[in-house]
Amino acid sequence: MALINLHVNGKNMSVDTETDTPLIYVLRNDFDFKGAKLGCALEQCGACMVLVDGEPTNSCVRAAAEFEGRQIETVESFGNPEKMSDIQQIFAEENVAQCGYCTAGIVCSVTSLFRKTKTPSDEQIKDTLNRHLCRCGSHSRILDAVYRIREVAIR
Ligand code: FES
Ligand code: FES
Repeated sequence: MALINLHVNGKNMSVDTETDTPLIYVLRNDFDFKGAKLGCALEQCGACMVLVDGEPTNSCVRAAAEFEGRQIETVESFGNPEKMSDIQQIFAEENVAQCGYCTAGIVCSVTSLFRKTKTPSDEQIKDTLNRHLCRCGSHSRILDAVYRIREVAIR
């Protein structure tokens, strides 16, 4: 066991845990951020995506200890059901989520993309979404939502 110090959603947080505990377990079980989901646990589906120093990062394999000194953001930092971010709002309006298991991870990646550019190319959008698997097959609605976010952003 070791004391791990993390910076999550703007706050310094500590946990006493095994040195090899994956980040997602600490976020969900110790810090109660339940947005990131455990899917494949193989860095292949994106359900566990969070932002680390602004970059989409799978949290299911790498140990929490590796993220000391980094800025971690989970989907909870972007908004909540009462006050959603613009991206979350459009995802909701477009009924992107079927079961919703993949959605928080996708919102993290899309948020990172639109922080970098308001006018991502179709290729950039597809590259971003390529790291995510929606087991419900909602890919076309996800794509429609991201195209709409781009339209709104450039108005
Ligand atoms: S649960 Fe991390 S990529 Fe699938
Ligand atoms: S909405 Fe169910 S996995 Fe994507």
